[in-house]
Amino acid sequence: MTTQARDSTPQRLHVWDLPTRLFHWLLAAAIPAAIATGMIGGELIVWHGRLGLFVLGLVAFRLVWGIIGTRNARFAQFVRGPRAILAYLRGEWRGVGHNPLGALSVLAMLGLIAVQIGSGLFANDDIAFRGPLADQVSDDVSSRLTSLHSLLQYGLIAVVVLHALAIAWYVKVKRENLLRPMVTGWKEVPGEVLDTATDADGAEATDAVQVAAGSEAPGAMRTVVAFLVAAAFAGALVYAVARPVFGSAPSAVPAAAPAAPAW
Ligand code: HEM
Repeated sequence: MTTQARDSTPQRLHVWDLPTRLFHWLLAAAIPAAIATGMIGGELIVWHGRLGLFVLGLVAFRLVWGIIGTRNARFAQFVRGPRAILAYLRGEWRGVGHNPLGALSVLAMLGLIAVQIGSGLFANDDIAFRGPLADQVSDDVSSRLTSLHSLLQYGLIAVVVLHALAIAWYVKVKRENLLRPMVTGWKEVPGEVLDTATDADGAEATDAVQVAAGSEAPGAMRTVVAFLVAAAFAGALVYAVARPVFGSAPSAVPAAAPAAPAW
């Protein structure tokens, strides 16, 4: 890391890698679609189940990407303790990526989505639809998880609305456009922030400036391997969970259970 102080001329920094951005926007599309199909029900409930499995894959991918992905996407990089949060609130935090307070909302959203998906897998609607793992638990447990699943959707809606309002507040009040970096991956960063910043691939500020100038992003091969590992984990998890409903493991569904829905 360079220690030489820079002037305040803004520099373009590659903040969010493509997998993180794809994850975000696919999630932002899938969650409202899953909520809408769940509320409408009827024949759309089949799509609710499919969207749930898709979101399961997205979150599984993000959890692995948060460990082995590029620097700014890693939880260890942006999840900070109370001292960092207080420093941020005092205006003393310098950096790119999620700020220490925003990191809490990231964890809250991912945690809530994980519980929502987890409960949905064991849920049933008392008519024709059963989550892919509903037959692995008693009817009582399935009913309780169904109630939790129904209730938590409102928590999820509240958190997502708060999230969108917070982004709008940053644009309007703090004059900081967080949205553009989540779309393009690039952020305009004041020179002095670059002294403590790294780009999405963990390069020092000087490398980041080279990336901005069009040279190859450092660590690209490592990034591709990490992406493949995270995607393989997500795919394997969805496959394992969905096997009963896709019919590749008929023995997983007890004979007495209602007919598996045509997912
Ligand atoms: C269902 C809807 C949404 C969900 C579930 C959601 C969830 C998330 C999550 C989990 C992150 C963390 C990204 C990561 O590190 O992987 C995030 C970040 C972000 N989201 Fe959303 N989001 C939603 C909708 C939106 C919308 C509508 C906007 C635009 C107004 C938006 C703008 C952003 C931005 C700008 C960030 C980065 C914040 C930062 O710089 O720290 N999101 N969102």
